[in-house]
Amino acid sequence: MSSQAYYVTTPIYYASDPPFIGNAWTTVVADALTRFAQIEGKDAYFLTGTDEHGPKVEKSAAAAGIGPKEWVDDISGKYRAMWPTLNIEPSDFIRTTEERHKRVVVELLQRVYDAGDIYLSEKEGLYCLGCEIFYNENELDDGRCPTHGTEPEHINEPNYFFRMSKYYGWWSDYLKENPETIRPERYRNEVEGWLRNPTDLSISRPKSRVTWGIELPFDSDHVAYVWFDALTNYISALGWPDGELFAKYWPTAEHLVGKDILRQHGLYWPIMLKSAGVPIYRHLNVHGFWQGFDGRKMSKSLGNSIDPADVRDAHGADSVRYALLREMPFGLDANIGDAIIAERANSDLANDLGNLASRVLALVQRSFGDNMPPVGAATIEDTNLRDQWLAVTPVVRDAWHDLRMSSAIESVMEGIRATNRYVDSQRPWDLAKSDEIDRLGTVLCTALETLRIASVLFWPIMPERMTLLRKQLGIEKTPQIADAEEWGLLETGALLSLGEQLFPRADVDAARAREQAKADSVKTPEADQADPEETIDFEQFASVKLRVGTIVAADTLPKTSKLLKLQVDLGDETRQIVAGIAESYSADDIVGRQVVVVANLEPATIRGVESQGMLLAADSQAGLRIVCPDAETPAGSPVQ
Ligand code: MSP
Repeated sequence: MSSQAYYVTTPIYYASDPPFIGNAWTTVVADALTRFAQIEGKDAYFLTGTDEHGPKVEKSAAAAGIGPKEWVDDISGKYRAMWPTLNIEPSDFIRTTEERHKRVVVELLQRVYDAGDIYLSEKEGLYCLGCEIFYNENELDDGRCPTHGTEPEHINEPNYFFRMSKYYGWWSDYLKENPETIRPERYRNEVEGWLRNPTDLSISRPKSRVTWGIELPFDSDHVAYVWFDALTNYISALGWPDGELFAKYWPTAEHLVGKDILRQHGLYWPIMLKSAGVPIYRHLNVHGFWQGFDGRKMSKSLGNSIDPADVRDAHGADSVRYALLREMPFGLDANIGDAIIAERANSDLANDLGNLASRVLALVQRSFGDNMPPVGAATIEDTNLRDQWLAVTPVVRDAWHDLRMSSAIESVMEGIRATNRYVDSQRPWDLAKSDEIDRLGTVLCTALETLRIASVLFWPIMPERMTLLRKQLGIEKTPQIADAEEWGLLETGALLSLGEQLFPRADVDAARAREQAKADSVKTPEADQADPEETIDFEQFASVKLRVGTIVAADTLPKTSKLLKLQVDLGDETRQIVAGIAESYSADDIVGRQVVVVANLEPATIRGVESQGMLLAADSQAGLRIVCPDAETPAGSPVQ
């Protein structure tokens, strides 16, 4: 059988912020789709990566006082390190700062230019840095970006433009003929709406404003617009134009994106491809957005955003994957939080699936030792359960092909609940007591067969736990969907193993308490939007712990003109603090000076060096002026 190619991509995430649950989600979906394709015998290729150019990344790096390359190396490394801990195994990880990518962007730009689709003009408009796109006034909500809620910047500068409008008619016709290309339908409708107003797209930024980008091949005073650069990743990673991977996988491309970046993928990207003479993707699959446990937009300042590492540590990677895929019907928005994950993991995984496996395996062990018992004649109850399970697999397959993973999960869980009812009604514990050993073996084998099928159908979602379940069932073979379409594959006498619990119970109360503590520890939304004249109450002020310190050592940091690494005596301890004061103070002059330190600030890593606090300094036109007591004061004294 020649295996069918399958190519799935995630957006490449901005290297301005570390991974969070939102982008972990898209990456989990891509990984699960890859694994499902694998069990179907397809040759699947899964690409993710990081988007590393543009003003947004440049600004984040500058705020941290480091160069953009060093910044993106660090953030990109965090993504790369996070994915395996969520059992995510991409085939490749592309970075837009890599030569292999930059080369392809230049080639693509040149082709579009040669096609006569690029011209120079003035760009005046409202630019949202969060989206990295220009908006028309009528697209804003009360003058603010509809996605980020921030006021866009007014910009006027020379830009190169991509003659996108030329292709609107082609794209509109293409979507009419191939409506499935963008799915679900509501997102295709949105793209069709935009197609009614043909516009061109600015695709360059002058180097006077943005330097961190890929230079245009036809004008070295400009860099490529970050989206033109980023979208190209999907083909640069495959070695376009003549790479083998490109020839094999590109015709099968399945892009996964959130609804926030529909315009770029549903409008810009297909037209870029068309202009350069490259065939377009097979499907653009658009998903909704996660809201916090409280139903509000997820944000660090509301305390409802989730660090994937926290929930993974609390519940295990596979339970998190399961809960995410179960809770969000693809295309719609959904709520997620620590407690939602815990509740879902308990009800479905610990109670229904895990408990079924452990009670059946324990019964086998008690009556048959460690081996799979022989199967006797089947009753109507046995064949009913078998028929129900054999009907599950085709339903699950269809659901996965339509990206209805939540309903695929539900179909398997219905089967699991049916097996639990079957076990309850067949009362194997009574059969064991009454020495009806043949019937007992048959009941247990029937239940174990259903678990075998579940271990295949759930493997793409929970690869680690389902591999363990398969081991407990004595199966060494890698999961294949064909095995979930057959009955009776467990072999009599196979060595079963009952060991580690598949899904330990999650502590929902503890999850809820963690959630609340996080929400309590951050600013309220009102505080977030507070105008500078607004007062804070005493409690808010008192939560900042200020102490007098004495600088006992100071060093410059390599490759930066702004930062000093200080050792500050706080009386009972010496703190290392990285301060951005090197343009106003030299390392030699500052030793011995007294300072005021924010002592309870969360530690941060700046340029790879841990900083355990912050100094107070006045920001004046003449530079920074550190704040110090007006007479020698014992180190560690509180400042009130
Ligand atoms: N760098 C661009 C993408 C370029 S692709 C050529 C970008 N990066 S991003 O870091 O902002 O990632 C956006 C994507 O992260 C969304 O499209 C979605 O896949 C995921 N999500 C971010 N927040 C999310 C939620 N709250 N909920 C669901 N997905 C979310 O845009």
